[in-house]
Amino acid sequence: MNTEMYIAHLKALVDRYEQALNTHGYDCVVISSGSLAMVAEDDRAYPYNPRPFAQQWVPYDIDPDTFIVFTPGDKPRLLWPARADFWHLTPQAPGGEWAGYWSVEAATGLDDWLPKLTGRIAWIGPRHPALAEQGVQVDIDPAGLKAELSYYRAYKTDFEIECMAQANRKAVAGHQAARDAFLRGASEAEIYRDYLAASEQLESQEPYSGIIALNEAAATLHYERRRFTPPAEHRTLLIDAGARVNGYASDITRTHTTDGGLFADLRLGLDALQQTLNASVKPGVTMTELQNQALAGVAGLLRDHGLCRLPVEEQLAKRVPHAFFPHGLGHLLGLQVHDVGGHQQTPEGETRADDDNPFLRLTRTLESSMVITMEPGLYFIPMLLDRLMQREPDHGLDLALIERLKPYGGIRIEDNLVVSADGARNLTREAFKAQH
Ligand code: GLY
Ligand code: MN
Ligand code: MN
Repeated sequence: MNTEMYIAHLKALVDRYEQALNTHGYDCVVISSGSLAMVAEDDRAYPYNPRPFAQQWVPYDIDPDTFIVFTPGDKPRLLWPARADFWHLTPQAPGGEWAGYWSVEAATGLDDWLPKLTGRIAWIGPRHPALAEQGVQVDIDPAGLKAELSYYRAYKTDFEIECMAQANRKAVAGHQAARDAFLRGASEAEIYRDYLAASEQLESQEPYSGIIALNEAAATLHYERRRFTPPAEHRTLLIDAGARVNGYASDITRTHTTDGGLFADLRLGLDALQQTLNASVKPGVTMTELQNQALAGVAGLLRDHGLCRLPVEEQLAKRVPHAFFPHGLGHLLGLQVHDVGGHQQTPEGETRADDDNPFLRLTRTLESSMVITMEPGLYFIPMLLDRLMQREPDHGLDLALIERLKPYGGIRIEDNLVVSADGARNLTREAFKAQH
């Protein structure tokens, strides 16, 4: 872990928070990492997902019940949860070279530190059950302040980009193991187990539940089952799975096939389309433009491979490719897989959706240092194909050919890109190349 990069990141956060607190009239901010949520009437917890506003400040996996207190002009304070507990592993005092830039303080409860804060206090994160007893007035999740902080989270520091580059390398090791397991005829559950082992994660540590879809299951966009019985035939593996480093996510999809015919050609075609889209990424471009380019590209594939005889323009007018590619092309990526602020147009919080492409989570114009995913797809989803045929009798589809392709499910290729003035840095393809 590069301390210099982290220190520059911390400085950027301090500047952002100073400005935002000043704009919104606060003297200090408390940022909570959140607490464990317990299963009802039991003594076990749901998997912990750190609150991203707190995680962003520290270069380790933040523990529950950690608080960051920031007052402009002062060293940031890190209040870590020091507990005497023989039932559970207790957190250790966070440390490292980076900690010299912090005031690191052990806290057993809010009363150790909260009553000493003065002035107008903003609180970001969930309300703590002990807050009411402290006799301290705080504004919880003030909308204006949170909108400003969310907006700037889209611009990643070099430290954040490095975390995501590492998260890509970690996930790619898993993707390779998953592909090998597919090729040796493993079940979805076995492929998933190999993915987790090779990417050195537990299921509870993934940034999202990995999707391991064999054959027609690849047509279910967020397929969540992992069957233990292998299918009789292995035609397709669609794997959408990532990893986390210091809370930062990778979000990667690959599609593998044992087919040597049309489906394999479509996979190559979609991969080429994805790389063309990657090459179009630069500051000033919008995802709406790229989504339309992707839909035209899918229409081109349908026509070139004989799935639809209509020309591209007519397909687009009839929304034919939309039935094969029914999701957004990409989203902001960071501490959340679908990172905050994708629809936000200004630091004040104005938002805009794309009415033509309602699933598109990113309507902000692309700018340098944003990290996005690029994930076109082409699927054979019976429900959407039936709807298309009912709505548009002159659809031009070769139904017999499409029936032959349905058992393959579909294709998605997803990479993580850093937008820069020179185009896009592809963290995912970089990681795959480094593995060979
Ligand atoms: N893995 C979720 C997504 O690609 O958006
Ligand atoms: Mn994604
Ligand atoms: Mn994904």
